[in-house]
Amino acid sequence: MITAGIGLGCDYNPEQWSPDVWREDVRLMRQAGIDIVAINIFGWAYLEPRPDEYDFTGLDAIVRLLHEHDIKINLGTGTASPPPWLATRHPEILPVAADGTTLYPGGRQAWCPSSPVFRRRALALVERVARRYGEHPALALWHVSNELGCHNAHCYDEDTAEAFRRWLRKRYGSVDALNDGWGTSFWSQRYGDWSEVRPPGQALSARNPGQVLDFHRFSSDELLDYYRDEVEVLRRHSAVPITTNFMVTAHIRNLDYWTWAPEMDVVANDHYLDHRLGDPTAELAFAADLTRGLAGGQPWMLMESAVGAVTWQPHNLTKAPGEAIRNSLTHVARGADAVCFFQWRASTQGAEKFHSALIPHAGTDTEAWREVLRLSATLDRLDEVAGTTVDTDVALLFSWQAWWACDGESRPSQDLRYLDQVHRAYNAVRELGATTDVVAPSAALDRYRLVVVPCLHLVSDQEAAAIQAYVAAGGHVLVTFYSGIVDQDDRIRLGGYPGAFCEMLGVSVEEFVPLLPGHEVSLDTGGRARLWTERLRTTTARPVARYVGGPLPGVAAVTRNAYGAGTAWYVATELRPDALRDVVREAVRTAGVRPLGPEGDGSVEVVRRSAPGRSYLFVVNHGTRDAEYAATGLELVTGDAVNGLMRIPAGEVRVIREESR
Ligand code: GLA
Repeated sequence: MITAGIGLGCDYNPEQWSPDVWREDVRLMRQAGIDIVAINIFGWAYLEPRPDEYDFTGLDAIVRLLHEHDIKINLGTGTASPPPWLATRHPEILPVAADGTTLYPGGRQAWCPSSPVFRRRALALVERVARRYGEHPALALWHVSNELGCHNAHCYDEDTAEAFRRWLRKRYGSVDALNDGWGTSFWSQRYGDWSEVRPPGQALSARNPGQVLDFHRFSSDELLDYYRDEVEVLRRHSAVPITTNFMVTAHIRNLDYWTWAPEMDVVANDHYLDHRLGDPTAELAFAADLTRGLAGGQPWMLMESAVGAVTWQPHNLTKAPGEAIRNSLTHVARGADAVCFFQWRASTQGAEKFHSALIPHAGTDTEAWREVLRLSATLDRLDEVAGTTVDTDVALLFSWQAWWACDGESRPSQDLRYLDQVHRAYNAVRELGATTDVVAPSAALDRYRLVVVPCLHLVSDQEAAAIQAYVAAGGHVLVTFYSGIVDQDDRIRLGGYPGAFCEMLGVSVEEFVPLLPGHEVSLDTGGRARLWTERLRTTTARPVARYVGGPLPGVAAVTRNAYGAGTAWYVATELRPDALRDVVREAVRTAGVRPLGPEGDGSVEVVRRSAPGRSYLFVVNHGTRDAEYAATGLELVTGDAVNGLMRIPAGEVRVIREESR
């Protein structure tokens, strides 16, 4: 890909250090086997200290130093954060919040994506950076801006209102079509003229859901358009691959990366363990699988991760010894061909001074640094894995648009959250030991034995038809509640829920019957469920589980339907994890999926990467007890031959080059 073998890299912010530290840095980078460093991410204030006055002395020196030490460069275009002079001269670039408040500069990313002034100034900088370094032999990758939309995805100023109207005109053509799309007959919201249309700022009551959904779409497109503008400048001066770092992570949902991914030369993701979640490791696996889906199954790059604590969670936990290595190898198992960290050297000032780094404040006589050296040595032993792809015959459909529509302001239960439902379904498959591709609802499904469709609230007619055709042709699908409810305009599909999937699932739902927090219902299978139930009638499906007691005694909670040559399962309630796993196990078995890993709590993950003629089995033990796994081949981490049961010590990872299967 970008580096030879499995790459190791980091963000480097030399602006924060003096030149004698730079020399020590490159020496240590060599020692740690760093292949690639990301620089100039936040370089603007140095490169253009005053309007139109450019100074490349510092960046030239760093580029030279890295090149002399044979370290490849992932060059930021430098536009992530404008310098103070820009907001001072042009306060109109500043983001405006939903309540109309203009946000101050002084943090980062304080620019409105629709600001023509910002775009002009940023592109002028990119032009100079591209011209100067575009053909430099050390340049391996362009890094456009940084985490586009991390803080500024939604802006509510006049520039945005103008751009939103332009976008809507293209989508709808006429005000009448817009009125129809947004359902403005409701609450006297009907528009008579384009000039009346605005972004959905803070309002007294729930806002128009169609307007909110389109604003999400528009905002994602607007930043993608900005990305394209930077790319257009870079391409004029450079043939080097271009990317930007995605944020496929639990708490950021503002960009529809399915539309972005095809425009990346390499898909790159930033991932940090999130300790606000019940199981951060399971989320890591999900995010890695989704990133691979974005990369179309091809290898991708982990652009940022942390060796220890971050600074932006309420409680910033460090990592246990070995955890950073294990996390990194989990990303590699799931398709990453490079593992990079934020950042090289821990800052002494600024908002991230307590963020972990490859070189911590305590220096190199530390466990953290020794772990970096161990990670580097381990990745070197895995170089031959690079270029292989992950094997699986299970897919899970994921959609940012369904997420936006599902988590809207007025819904049957505030406790119903799209990502929770996705994680639950994903975890059930993971705990059964199977690997899942996470793909778009429009993806080709024929190569999968089982397709899991969690909470796909919004689904287009075309996507629904393709899922149905897949089952009719012999595929197996497992759909969970609140799927198929609205079309692409967020309009309810009439005739019974789950509208788009009634026929395929062989059920018809008359009404949703959500449960209050703390309430549970029992099933005749012995399982329990919470949050949600449905007044469901089977048409052609047969019940697999029914409620006992609760608001719907005797009504089917889980169903199975023979549809064409395939099978469609429906889970109409939020089953407890063990009960959900029981249903998914049946679906997995019926579909003929043979999980590689053991069934359990997910603490032992087994994933295979392969290419014609070779394959590698990753066995990751997140647990606190040693695990065993049967394999034959050469174990690459230890260099030991394996023939039969292999021990994977608690917290460690083993990678077996398999003898021909
Ligand atoms: C993001 C950013 C980095 C840094 C890290 C800290 O990923 O891209 O600049 O702020 O978070 O975790």
